[in-house]
Amino acid sequence: MLRVVVMVSGGGTNLQAVIDGVEKGSISNAEIAGVISNNKNAYALERAKNHGIPAQCISPKDFADRGKFNEKLLEAVEGYMPDLIVLAGFLVVIPPEMTVKYKDRMINIHPSLIPSFCGTGYYGLKVHEAALARGVKVVGATVHFVDEGTDTGPIILQKAVEVQPGDTAEILQRRVMEQAEWKILPRAIDLIANGKVAVKDGKAFVLEE
Ligand code: GRF
Repeated sequence: MLRVVVMVSGGGTNLQAVIDGVEKGSISNAEIAGVISNNKNAYALERAKNHGIPAQCISPKDFADRGKFNEKLLEAVEGYMPDLIVLAGFLVVIPPEMTVKYKDRMINIHPSLIPSFCGTGYYGLKVHEAALARGVKVVGATVHFVDEGTDTGPIILQKAVEVQPGDTAEILQRRVMEQAEWKILPRAIDLIANGKVAVKDGKAFVLEE
């Protein structure tokens, strides 16, 4: 049984997709051991509590410096004894020691087809605003392993979504969530939980579709 810790900062719709997947069985061989947010007002924390999942807030604002926060965050994560860490809209930089410790055991959902519209400064609506500004016809989402960079780790799954005439950033964001994020994040967790993802020479492979 894969023990999963989900790290969130906002509304938690991706967390909800994972919770639903576990409860309905489309994610097998996995359980959500805990949810951690940097934002005490994150509705994602409510979602966890509504489903009886341990949840806590570790906010950088409560610590004298980033080093102390990083220490406490890693301690809180380890307290759940995770096999996999899932960043689902977590907007805080992951401590380097955590990236090293959880190499190929930490994944992130990004709302674009990496390597487009990713890296520092590309998060939330900004990603979709940039896509509309560039005039791309296809967007989408990516699940990737987290490495020391920003959105640079091995890509596990991607799903494309069409841009429609008249799309605003908000409309496009919602479509990418509904049609891509909420599908590929649960699927990636199920694949990992069932030993179907491997990493070789810095690339991730799904062993059987
Ligand atoms: C999602 O768009 C995700 O791709 C990005 O942050 C957002 C989180 O949304 N990383 P939610 O908190 O899962 O609703």
